[in-house]
Amino acid sequence: DAKGKYLLPGIIDDQVHFRDPGLTHKGDIESESRAAVAGGVTSYIDQPNTVPHAITQELLAQKYQNAAGRSYANYSFMMGGTNDNLDEILKTNPRDVAGLKLFLGSSTGDMLVDSSAAIESIFTHTPLLIAVHCEDETTVKNNLAHYKSQFGDDIPVAYHPVIRSEEACYLSSSKTVALAKKTGARLHVFHISTAKELALFDNSIPLAEKKITAEVCIHHLWFSDQDYASKGNFIKWNPAVKTAADREALWKAVLDDTIDVIATDHAPHTLAEKEQVYTKAPSGGPLVQHSLVVMLEAVREGRISLEKVVQKMAHNPAQLFQIEKRGFIREGYHADLVLVDCNSTWTVDASNILYKCGWSPLEGTEFHSQITHTLVNGILVYENGKVHELRAGQRLLFNRNE
Ligand code: DOR
Repeated sequence: DAKGKYLLPGIIDDQVHFRDPGLTHKGDIESESRAAVAGGVTSYIDQPNTVPHAITQELLAQKYQNAAGRSYANYSFMMGGTNDNLDEILKTNPRDVAGLKLFLGSSTGDMLVDSSAAIESIFTHTPLLIAVHCEDETTVKNNLAHYKSQFGDDIPVAYHPVIRSEEACYLSSSKTVALAKKTGARLHVFHISTAKELALFDNSIPLAEKKITAEVCIHHLWFSDQDYASKGNFIKWNPAVKTAADREALWKAVLDDTIDVIATDHAPHTLAEKEQVYTKAPSGGPLVQHSLVVMLEAVREGRISLEKVVQKMAHNPAQLFQIEKRGFIREGYHADLVLVDCNSTWTVDASNILYKCGWSPLEGTEFHSQITHTLVNGILVYENGKVHELRAGQRLLFNRNE
């Protein structure tokens, strides 16, 4: 009986770090996919900065083997690019791998791709969707050196968006968008965080025809630089959370379709890791359990319609990645479904956080909507606060030719 509730297609989160294999003290396939289904996320795309990095076909295949039968939600893993693995990239099967990830700015995991020649060669030759992390490395390095000379390692975290600055983001994303235009590559720019970068994207083209698409993450829509004082390293992300004016511009870009997708960049680290000084505390935080409730809160506040939320978090990721038979409630499609109660007040606290790391940047936040049921491939995996021990997740397939 779903009276008074909304039935939505399951959320597809195209950018998560579930840390498996190799970093499983932070999170693993089981723990983070349990949290995902509790948050209404029925499919996810995991990033290659696991250990070992998923940068050869053999390592990518091992990562898939490692996950088989363990995930509560459907999954795909990105192939990772480096300065010298073009041969391996070109062997990737687009039918069963979501795409290629390039870290064009360094972040957790030392996967920086910084050879212009290698990047151009990848853009020229791969038919894969290329998803990028854009921050200009030299700018970030110089800014960091400047503040280190002033503060040592204990730089106040409020300088994070000054170090990982608007300029660093724009320099990298503008260069990358220009390269995609020159080469005809299929580019998806992850986690846009500044107003300035939005001019790089065109909202006059329907999604099906776009060759360059953009994404925003939950933290860049929810937090602003005013929150560093209370949240500290718990909102330290790469790219950094920027100003309230940037946040407003990102919301506008979601509404006018300059931005195509909303995701999380779910990136758990342990409390002990996050509690270190600025230069040692890793960037990233867990969000996959709370992305849909954050957006339902925005619906309640009148910022966005429920239809638009579903478009940006289910329909568009499915279309953009050409995911087979998911992202819509349709006859013949997999039954990845979520029931939400938009009149239920609760607070994020230690008793309801399912992440292995055990903390959330939203701890103490009161929400007024709740995910009550989640079905993955027609199987009820989450019900009123309880995850059923049913690992119903399947490997995602894509409507693309091999
Ligand atoms: O803040 C971040 N954390 N940004 C990234 O790009 C990587 C992520 C992580 O893996 O921790």
